[in-house]
Amino acid sequence: MKTSRRISSKRHQSIQKKLKLEVDQGKKLRHDLKECKLHYTRLAKEFHGTKKQSAKLSELLLLQQEGERKDISRKLHDEIAQILTAVNFKLSILSRTTMNRGPELREKIIDAQQMVEKAVDKINDFARELHPMILDDLGLAVALESYIKEFMKQTKIQVKLTTLIDISELSDVNKTVLFRVAQESLTNIAKHSKASSASITIRKIKNNVQMVVRDNGISFQVKNLHLIEKDKYIGLIAMEERVKMVDGVFAITSSPGKGTLIKVQIPILRV
Ligand SMILES: Nc1ncnc2c1ncn2[C@@H]1O[C@H](COP(=O)(O)OP(=O)(O)OP(=O)(O)O)[C@@H](O)[C@H]1O
Ligand SMILES: [Mg+2]
Repeated sequence: MKTSRRISSKRHQSIQKKLKLEVDQGKKLRHDLKECKLHYTRLAKEFHGTKKQSAKLSELLLLQQEGERKDISRKLHDEIAQILTAVNFKLSILSRTTMNRGPELREKIIDAQQMVEKAVDKINDFARELHPMILDDLGLAVALESYIKEFMKQTKIQVKLTTLIDISELSDVNKTVLFRVAQESLTNIAKHSKASSASITIRKIKNNVQMVVRDNGISFQVKNLHLIEKDKYIGLIAMEERVKMVDGVFAITSSPGKGTLIKVQIPILRV
């Protein structure tokens, strides 16, 4: 009897020891878990900070790029094209004052004048492509109308523009973002879609401006655009970045038989 009691007390002690060990291990685990949680929260905060910083950086880069484009565009238009126009004016004076020097010289002057005119046109096209000044001076609707007119002339793709919003409500940044998205979408339509027609619709939905660019082309696989062939998709990615920069939402749908649709929604007033 005594022996069995001793054994049971020994077992009891060993169970207690085991239990204590388990309790200690549990405490250590809880402590480690707490440490892990703290570490994770710190990491999450750092990640959030880095993400915010990188978003801010891309916003700054895009704004800087837009500013530089505007600057080069103005210089091309106001300085270089003006100088060439002045050269042309001088050539026409020369042509008049050398009337009696025979037709050969006159023809050469006319040739030179035509070349200068071509150069002025090219410079103005280039300046418009870089930054349409018409966007600052006359607004988004006029800038898009003029861009579409030229686009249709060059590509023979019919584009219908519908603006169901008072465009003057939009800030300069919003106007630029919408113009760039429309420009890149149309460029893609011309380059890749084989479409015969497209449309751009801009409307107001609550406090947002929504722009939809649609084409009736061959469509493409949109899935995982960010994961595959990153360096190939600069145009679409830059569009998305620009839209996100103004707290907007960007979406593409593309399916065979239905063409491609790009939808952008931007808050009109940002707080
Ligand atoms: N409207 C469209 N119709 C059919 N395919 C399109 C259309 N828009 C884009 N794509 C496809 O998506 C790809 C990515 O377009 P994205 O604009 O990013 O690049 P890109 O036009 O090839 O080059 P870039 O960087 O000069 O714009 C295109 O190469 C094309 O295959
Ligand atoms: Mg492109």
